[in-house]
Amino acid sequence: MKKKAPVAKSSKLWDKGGASDVEMMRFTARDDWQLDQRLLPFDLMATKAHVRGLGRIGSLGAEVVAALVAELDRLSEEVVAGRFVLTDAHEDGHTAIEMELTARLGEAGKKVHLGRSRNDQVLVAMRLYEKDALETLSSLSRAAARAMLALAARERDTVMPGYTHLQRAVPSTVGYWASSFAEGLADATESIEHARRLTDRSPLGGAAGFGVNLPLDRDGVARELGFADLALNPLASQSSRGIIEAVVLSSVWHASATVRRLAWDLSLFTTAEFGFVKLDDALTTGSSIMPQKKNPDVVELLRGSCAIVEGAIHELMSLVALPAGYHRDLQLTKAPTMRALEEAKRALSLIPRVAEGMTFDRDRMARAVSADTLATDRAVDLAASGVAFRDAYAEVAREAGDPDEPAGERAKKSIAARTSLGSPGNLGTDRLEARLDAIDRASLARPLPTSGGGE
Ligand code: ARG
Repeated sequence: MKKKAPVAKSSKLWDKGGASDVEMMRFTARDDWQLDQRLLPFDLMATKAHVRGLGRIGSLGAEVVAALVAELDRLSEEVVAGRFVLTDAHEDGHTAIEMELTARLGEAGKKVHLGRSRNDQVLVAMRLYEKDALETLSSLSRAAARAMLALAARERDTVMPGYTHLQRAVPSTVGYWASSFAEGLADATESIEHARRLTDRSPLGGAAGFGVNLPLDRDGVARELGFADLALNPLASQSSRGIIEAVVLSSVWHASATVRRLAWDLSLFTTAEFGFVKLDDALTTGSSIMPQKKNPDVVELLRGSCAIVEGAIHELMSLVALPAGYHRDLQLTKAPTMRALEEAKRALSLIPRVAEGMTFDRDRMARAVSADTLATDRAVDLAASGVAFRDAYAEVAREAGDPDEPAGERAKKSIAARTSLGSPGNLGTDRLEARLDAIDRASLARPLPTSGGGE
């Protein structure tokens, strides 16, 4: 905190009078005070629900509960206003909360930690943070999918080559290309929703990992925090730390990897050699030496962004190679989790801008659809007239068409003839819209926590 905690004689909750080695403390506490700033709103919310739960079972008197709840609400407001700011004076955010409550309330503050451990305190705060981040990411991923659908509608009939192996293969459209990313992002949204459900169980009340000798109202506390359910066995909760985060980040990677492919295509399509796409000037950057340059840095960093998520997953996977229960190594799962979730939020939120900022050179794209890309159609047509497909294939292969001659109007006919659902001639994007709408509705129907700040 900016101002010193007046009554706190020590900055450690576990202080028993002995001196701690300063370097050891720095090494173990490391950047927790910075990371925990992001956790504070959730930690305060969970602390409030915990206190109320203790009140319901008679472990704290009504006056103590009221005083703690009022002060926790105040602290929540101060976090929002930027007045409750952690510094390295405290080992972590959990310590700062208890010490601040004690500084302000005296005895009542010292009662807040009854029946919990920092082990379940950090778990519940992380789950609330992750749930919140995944809710945001699900909604950003849907918005990105919808932006690609809007692009698909705008450029539904714009002809372009379809590529395999980066070689021209079959006539296609921008509408088809764009809606492929919309579908990828709809799939990613479902992965994110699945991960969100995994985080939607409250671990609070497990204390150090083995429960406590109090009849805690764990279900009531979970409900108050807006969790769908309880994480039942505290040892399982402790052992899930880092593992659930790896799954959470994998679901986000699903979106990041989809964005990476979009970014890769765009970095090719915006080259002079392809010349298919121009990005709005507002989406390009300049060179410090080459005055003519307009660089697609945003696209390249959208591509690189996936590496941050991917690296964080590897970090988590290495960290969780541990026996059951709590180990201090688990503290190190916080940084990669937050780094990746915040990075993915920033990246996904840019996709609608990028989708709107693309201008397609229609002539150039049409000219790139060369006559040889009609070869598959011709083989299929021949087969439809009764020739065995392999014989038709061999016949067309002998004279496959000129790679230097544009297919012209034939490209449009080729696309129009591919009418089976989902093909370039029949995108069927209403099905994708229905999938996205269903996730919207489910998200709106979810309960909100009743233990938020300032009620
Ligand atoms: N900063 C710690 C973490 O994230 C909080 C829990 C500390 N627990 C302990 N037993 N030292 O894991």
